[in-house]
Amino acid sequence: MTSHPTVTVFGAYGHTGRFVVAELIRRGWTPILSGRDAGKLTDLAASYTGLEIRPASIDDPESLDRALVGATAVINAAGPFAATAAPVTDAALRARIPYLDVAAEVEVALSTVDRYPALATAAGIAVVPAAAFYGGLVDLLATAAMGDWAAADEVSIAYALDSWLPTAGTVATGHVSDARRDSKRLVFRQGRLELRSDDAPVTEWTFPEPFGPQRVQADFTTADSVTLPHHLKVSEISSHMTVAPLEDLGGPRTTPPTGIRSDQQFLVEVIVRSGDERRRAVARGQDIYAITAPIVVEATRRLLESPTPPAGVLTVGQLSDAADFLRSLGSEHFTVEFS
Ligand SMILES: NC(=O)c1ccc[n+]([C@@H]2O[C@H](COP(=O)([O-])OP(=O)(O)OC[C@H]3O[C@@H](n4cnc5c(N)ncnc54)[C@H](OP(=O)(O)O)[C@@H]3O)[C@@H](O)[C@H]2O)c1
Repeated sequence: MTSHPTVTVFGAYGHTGRFVVAELIRRGWTPILSGRDAGKLTDLAASYTGLEIRPASIDDPESLDRALVGATAVINAAGPFAATAAPVTDAALRARIPYLDVAAEVEVALSTVDRYPALATAAGIAVVPAAAFYGGLVDLLATAAMGDWAAADEVSIAYALDSWLPTAGTVATGHVSDARRDSKRLVFRQGRLELRSDDAPVTEWTFPEPFGPQRVQADFTTADSVTLPHHLKVSEISSHMTVAPLEDLGGPRTTPPTGIRSDQQFLVEVIVRSGDERRRAVARGQDIYAITAPIVVEATRRLLESPTPPAGVLTVGQLSDAADFLRSLGSEHFTVEFS
């Protein structure tokens, strides 16, 4: 593999897409800027030197094929993914290059793991859903914490955000998910996803500093409920989220400045239990959109540099040594610890 891969970013001018483009460039890679709006692609390309733009639409498979010519992988950052995941994955299958996305939508990640294993294996490519803050980070933390365990009785996940600052794409994605669920909530119990009409329980979780004791909503179901069970033998998964940022999702928030890391602080605690033994992994960082970029780009790097590139549907926790993956993300904006 070339040490300077060329990667198509679909949805390149979105808030998350811009972080992905910047991360590729920081590593000396070459992004091809793709998305449905040629004007927005031109504006983004003007911020850099010599980047190619390739407008493409999910309704026009040939335009997607053109967007992928010469690329070694495609990263899909255009959401809601209910619309974009399947057409862009299908284009990656035709081009026979790995596909990665940053979908947070549980049902979309589930559809990817249900629909694509045989197709991806036949095409000899990896399809990696939810290589992002939701779906990717906890998968890495739980995989690393389990280490040499073949199975765990329980994985307990707790997210603390001091605010959410949702983007237009996140809000739109929430509306799509609500409509799909008929405004019910999605709950993961005993290995199954189910819809419920009652209110989610609110309880308390004591996080490590700086968050400490916080009110949390239980049954905070994310793409983690798809990625973890895809490869980890776990009997129960519970997931909690601090209450305050959830109120941001429904509120009149404006989009954070495009491409600029916000002040948002996050902490994610994962506790895995086998019998009486517990292991813990904690990640702390700044800005859930910004951290998504190094997660998906590092996943791409590990795929492309693998001496025997894997094929099929894989989650980031499956790609390589998860603890090593997490440590490689370490920066002034991200730390991880295990105990
Ligand atoms: N799993 C995670 O942790 C995680 C992290 C970050 C983001 N995400 C997800 O990523 C998605 C994007 O978020 P964002 O923050 O980047 O939002 P954003 O700034 O609003 O950007 C959304 C991007 O998606 C494009 N898009 C939307 N629908 C499209 C369609 N049908 N065809 C082509 N392009 C389409 C938009 O293009 P236009 O401007 O032309 O509409 C834009 O480029 C959301 O679904 C969000 O939930 C997930």
